[in-house]
Amino acid sequence: MPRAYISGVGMYVPPKVVKNDDLKAWYDTSDEWIYTRSGIKERRWVEEPASTAELGLYASQEALQQAGLSPQDIDLIIFATLSPDLYFPGSGVLLQHKLGLETTPALDIRQQCSGFVYGLSIADQFIRSGMYRRILLVGAEIQSTWLDYNPEGRTVGVLFGDGAGAVVVEATEDPNRGILSSHLYSQGAYAMELCIAEPSSATRSHELPGSYGMRPYMNGKEVFRHAVQRMGEAVQVALSAQGWKPEEVDLFILHQANIRIVQAVADFFQLPMEKFFNNIHKYGNTTAASIPICLYEAQAEGRLKAGDKVILAAFGSGFTWGSVALIW
Ligand code: UT7
Repeated sequence: MPRAYISGVGMYVPPKVVKNDDLKAWYDTSDEWIYTRSGIKERRWVEEPASTAELGLYASQEALQQAGLSPQDIDLIIFATLSPDLYFPGSGVLLQHKLGLETTPALDIRQQCSGFVYGLSIADQFIRSGMYRRILLVGAEIQSTWLDYNPEGRTVGVLFGDGAGAVVVEATEDPNRGILSSHLYSQGAYAMELCIAEPSSATRSHELPGSYGMRPYMNGKEVFRHAVQRMGEAVQVALSAQGWKPEEVDLFILHQANIRIVQAVADFFQLPMEKFFNNIHKYGNTTAASIPICLYEAQAEGRLKAGDKVILAAFGSGFTWGSVALIW
């Protein structure tokens, strides 16, 4: 049975840097509050108009180049985003067209902050089954366009950034590299704790004066509490599946939602923060893009080397969470 491995990584973030202090234009906030509560110093925001699929395109082009492939070599596109260009169809088909492809299948998934981990697991299954050998997996978000810029939107508004990451997942017969296991979970009982409820198929929201628009809601404390617990469990299940001790893992990459969540997981496993790759200070929470952006930068900084034991884990809206264990 073939195994799936990541043969190329790419990333793209828009050039416009928004520092914490810049957010004072909308919110009663401070650099001190944002940095100490979340670890964020700045984030990237697009200049409008912008397209999530286009951000995904730039990241994909780099990933394909690194893999030494052209778009025509790709058997399947998986696009993870909570901020698609259109309500439907998904951004995957838009990316497919931008890549100059005719009929390559494109699949959108909506697993929010867990989108990349879910997508990697899906790619792994397609490759193990033998159905596909080369899959392009993209996590891309434009979130600056739907943030609530009213004063009450500050808790969510200061956290999120725009960006894209992409990987090429390929089949290999090499037993010494690739994805070893993945574990996925969700718990819809908490769907309303972190959501954008409108536009909705449940209501004619667009006909109600004043109510149309996307308004993110997050019960921050509740999400934080679950994130720490579930991310820790996701890491533990990956360790147990591989029989790895925590200290044997070369690099952990956890979804970048809040540096205090990563710190709590590191403390739980009694690991130094050096074992965890973080870049939330530069990009904020880029949702489905955060893990592939980390993969790209970790590789560029020499912190991911062939043969390294790696665990990826994410938690987010849904609630959804999961992990992947792999040999780089
Ligand atoms: O990516 C998906 C997963 N997402 C997450 O995992 C996020 C999880 N949640 C969190 O990261 C944290 O809960 C937050 C960073 C969102 C908030 O941190 P917190 O320590 O839980 O703060 P809080 O919501 O309890 O707010 C503390 C205080 C409040 O004031 P009072 O009631 O104590 O007077 C807030 O009104 O901070 C106030 N506050 C702010 N102050 C300045 C809330 N947002 C801001 C702000 N600037 N932007």
